[in-house]
Amino acid sequence: MENPFIYQRPIRYGEPFCNREKEISYLENGVFSAELVCLASIRRMGKTSLINQLEGRLGEKVEILRIDLSDVFKLEDFVRLFERALGRISPQEKILHHLKKVLSLRPELELGLDVSTGDLKLVPRLVSEKDSYTFFREILRTLVRFAEKEKRPFWLVIDEFQNVRRISPKGEIEWTMRRVFEERKSFFSALFAGSERSLLLQMVNDDRAAFYRMVTVYECDPLPLKEAEDFVVTCFKETLKRAPKRELVRKLLEIIGGHPYAMNLFFHRLWREASLKKKIINDPRIWGELLEELVILERKRFEDLNSFLSLKARELLKAIAIYGPVSDPYSAAFLQKTGLTASTVQKTLKTLLRHNRIRETPQGYQVADPLEKLVIRLSGVPPEELRRLFERTFSEI
Ligand SMILES: Nc1ncnc2c1ncn2[C@@H]1O[C@H](COP(=O)(O)OP(=O)(O)OP(=O)(O)O)[C@@H](O)[C@H]1O
Ligand SMILES: [Mg+2]
Repeated sequence: MENPFIYQRPIRYGEPFCNREKEISYLENGVFSAELVCLASIRRMGKTSLINQLEGRLGEKVEILRIDLSDVFKLEDFVRLFERALGRISPQEKILHHLKKVLSLRPELELGLDVSTGDLKLVPRLVSEKDSYTFFREILRTLVRFAEKEKRPFWLVIDEFQNVRRISPKGEIEWTMRRVFEERKSFFSALFAGSERSLLLQMVNDDRAAFYRMVTVYECDPLPLKEAEDFVVTCFKETLKRAPKRELVRKLLEIIGGHPYAMNLFFHRLWREASLKKKIINDPRIWGELLEELVILERKRFEDLNSFLSLKARELLKAIAIYGPVSDPYSAAFLQKTGLTASTVQKTLKTLLRHNRIRETPQGYQVADPLEKLVIRLSGVPPEELRRLFERTFSEI
């Protein structure tokens, strides 16, 4: 029997997925009303998994072109990625017909490696940056016209979208997109997902940016606790025919703040143990042990992630984790707690925001990742003590 809690990769369509009905219906509506949406969150909140669900659900109803910019850093690779993705569109003869003009734009051809098949073949050599942008613009324009002409919804999905700023720092890709998107009518929509929230927000909210007032931001937040609880219990019941006590599941989800990755990691391990030994499913010692493992693992991860931050930035992050949400970081009381001056706080807040370690909310500044908040709050507690603390927490239920 397969473990239903997948945690080392995005969840595919058809695999156990905590429903996110609200997000799915919002994004689905966007697809059918020619919207441009930016799906932003910190890492491991489930953006890619959510897109997979949407892609599966939309199925035949929509033409989908999906591109992932995780490891694309050069303009030429970016354009090639688009070109290759065209080959995946289903009514190929039709799109090829529309693309004829674009392909005739191809500058010189050279013998190159086709990364998708590993074969050597003739590929266009994009002689200059200008060629690349022209080529890209024409591909995009063809897609938009294709959708409008066929009267068939077309959905362009770009994951790790913030990388376009690295590929073209002056925003040329974004401006090219803007001009073409302005031509669309009712069948072409797009989703730009990414994990560098602050950069993405800047790309859509800054009044000098190409996407200003053109793209709606939608946040992928932690899972609602009730939904997550139902998901966990159902997964256990459907696979092992028994489930842990709801109160325990609820407590765990509260502690991790509905973090989807942490939820699946924890329950993946509990499921594994419980599939071998029936009795441990509600054993507070096992729950304590697994949560301790999770916290230690994440402690190491966040230490590495934050190693580039100055000591003062780490101090401020810690204070926000402990006292947050912080509505007035310059108040005498807060400055006294941190031992930092107002000017240091001002500078470090910017750094923490830029690196997505904290987030501004209507209640004040908060640590962006609920798991990081947990780890920081427990930072002074040694491992053996952690386990006892968690065991006690779960025994009281
Ligand atoms: N709806 C969900 N139900 C259950 N688990 C989920 C859900 N969404 C995400 N997860 C868990 O979170 C993990 C991370 O998901 P995913 O890779 O989709 O996040 P992401 O936001 O795309 O991350 P990154 O920013 O690192 O690309 C998954 O492996 C899975 O364990
Ligand atoms: Mg992802």
